[in-house]
Amino acid sequence: MPVYILGIESSCDDTAAAVLCDGKILANVVAGQNVHKAYGGVVPELASRAHQQNIIPVVDQAIKQSGIDKKDLQAIAFTTGPGLLGSLLVGSSFAKSMALGLQIPIIQINHMQAHVLAHFIKGNLSETFANPEFPFICLTVSGGHTQILKVNDYFDMEILGETTDDAAGEAFDKIAKLMELPYPGGPLIDKFAKEGNPEKFKFPHPQVSGLNFSFSGLKTSVLYFLQKNMQKDPLFIEKFKYDICASVQHTIVEILMEKLMVAMDQSGINQVALAGGVAANSGLRKAIEENGQQKKWKTFIPKLEYCTDNAAMIAIAGYYKFLRSEFSSQDAAASARLPF
Ligand code: KG4
Ligand code: ZN
Repeated sequence: MPVYILGIESSCDDTAAAVLCDGKILANVVAGQNVHKAYGGVVPELASRAHQQNIIPVVDQAIKQSGIDKKDLQAIAFTTGPGLLGSLLVGSSFAKSMALGLQIPIIQINHMQAHVLAHFIKGNLSETFANPEFPFICLTVSGGHTQILKVNDYFDMEILGETTDDAAGEAFDKIAKLMELPYPGGPLIDKFAKEGNPEKFKFPHPQVSGLNFSFSGLKTSVLYFLQKNMQKDPLFIEKFKYDICASVQHTIVEILMEKLMVAMDQSGINQVALAGGVAANSGLRKAIEENGQQKKWKTFIPKLEYCTDNAAMIAIAGYYKFLRSEFSSQDAAASARLPF
């Protein structure tokens, strides 16, 4: 009998629902929230309100697109954290009530594990058209996290290194804000970087021990750099927008790649995957691809829609828990800081 899972994701500012059949996508719907653009970042209270407005139409659309009846669903998987508490509560309360109504089990999912498990959605979803084999190294880079993981099994992931302050996505977004670019700035920096010279401006790399990262110093050095140059020429950002974006992106990618190279050498593993919203960055995708060719790594880079937040990744994580009969009780609580 085929296994139909509904996945629900609401940890930050995307309301998403997906239906999978035996791990293959039947529907994958994401509703973003434009309301945050005016504030230069996600406003938690506005995010939870927008989730409340979006959740029913998004789930309804996913079920309709999948072509199944909601009564065919065997379980509902939903994100319990990490993320914004108010946002998580909307998705988790909805998932629990819907499952109660349908009398089917619920499965709680860790958002960061789900980003990694996006590599196991069945079909041609990775640009390399294959799934990694265990163990592999995964660089998970999003708006809230930056981690190098050793992935031993679907739900057995060791953190080898992580950021000690800002996440890589946060660095992109905060630097974009300094340049008065709208939120989220990461995709815009990526776009403008394509037109600029990555060697034009140099920014320092942080000195952090082991496989850990730090990005708050980069943000501060870009701030001082912009202030100094704007004093001399108020049109500096306007004139050098492309070169600043290219140089910032180049620096962030170099910082990520330096530690990833060490992790690959130390672990002796030759498979490497990218995950999380920043995995959509064209500079990072290119760097991992080129280094992979040089070092003979097998690289796994998800298609763009499975890098940024989506519910297909929640549903695939739910599918593997379903196969292990790892269900949750109605007491499953949303948690802003949920460890693996
Ligand atoms: O995984 P995600 O969708 O949400 C979180 O779990 O945080 O990641 C969102 C982050 C944002 O910081 C956004 O600016 C960044 O991913 N991002 C990018 C790109 N696309 C999304 N950063 C750089 N280049 C991109 N193309
Ligand atoms: Zn995410």
